[in-house]
Amino acid sequence: MNVVITGANRGIGLELVKQFNDKDYNVYGSSRNPLASTELQEEIGLDKIIPLDMSDTNSIETFCKQIQNLTNSKIDILINNAAVRGEKGNPGIPDPNVIRETFNINAIGPVMLIKYLADSLHGTKIINITSGMGSISRTTSGDLSYRMSKAALNMAGRNLHIEMKEHNTIIVQIHPGWVRTDMGGMNAAISTEESAKGIINSIENLTPNQSGTFFDYKGDQIPW
Ligand SMILES: NC(=O)c1ccc[n+]([C@@H]2O[C@H](COP(=O)([O-])OP(=O)(O)OC[C@H]3O[C@@H](n4cnc5c(N)ncnc54)[C@H](OP(=O)(O)O)[C@@H]3O)[C@@H](O)[C@H]2O)c1
Repeated sequence: MNVVITGANRGIGLELVKQFNDKDYNVYGSSRNPLASTELQEEIGLDKIIPLDMSDTNSIETFCKQIQNLTNSKIDILINNAAVRGEKGNPGIPDPNVIRETFNINAIGPVMLIKYLADSLHGTKIINITSGMGSISRTTSGDLSYRMSKAALNMAGRNLHIEMKEHNTIIVQIHPGWVRTDMGGMNAAISTEESAKGIINSIENLTPNQSGTFFDYKGDQIPW
């Protein structure tokens, strides 16, 4: 079973690689800097680490061609995990460049990746790692760029699920929990191990009628 994970060099992405590897899946991971991704190299070897910058459309297109070559266009699981946090809290007048960059990486990048890979995604389980912070009905104030980008990613996932279901493609949005990583901070509620275990359990048990939905690492639905 071929698994492709973006942002695989640290945090939740790296832990997903480790756990899929332990289960004997064939894992490919992206990194902005494969040569510096030593932990990821120890897991899957340099040959399976493909460079990818989600803010750069050319990089995404090149990544997709490389993945199609390496997997013979058979991708069983695709995990859009790479993301940035944007400006935290409420900075008053936001920096529009930060909003644009956060949108590029968190929302537009995953859409382009799915679109460039579309011919290889028939029957694939696509996981967009989103956030509860992208829930419109649950939102509070602040963290505007991140919340906007994840709400847009959720819309993209729901939209593409309708477009791609004729090819038996399943697309879900999974919130990984509040996780102790560089992004989540050391005071976060759960470990990467617990988050990745829950996400993988959900992926392995996914059914077609779950496609187009939004839930957390425990499998609990989240309102849009
Ligand atoms: N941690 C949490 O509490 C939490 C909560 C809700 C949702 N999430 C979501 O979970 C996912 C993983 O988060 P995390 O906590 O593991 O974050 P993290 O530790 O900050 O790791 C982020 C990953 O994304 C990569 N990345 C950042 N910008 C990129 C770009 N332009 N192109 C390609 N890769 C890029 C990073 O690569 P570099 O090393 O090159 O920067 C890194 O591999 C994200 O989608 C995040 O939004 C996390």
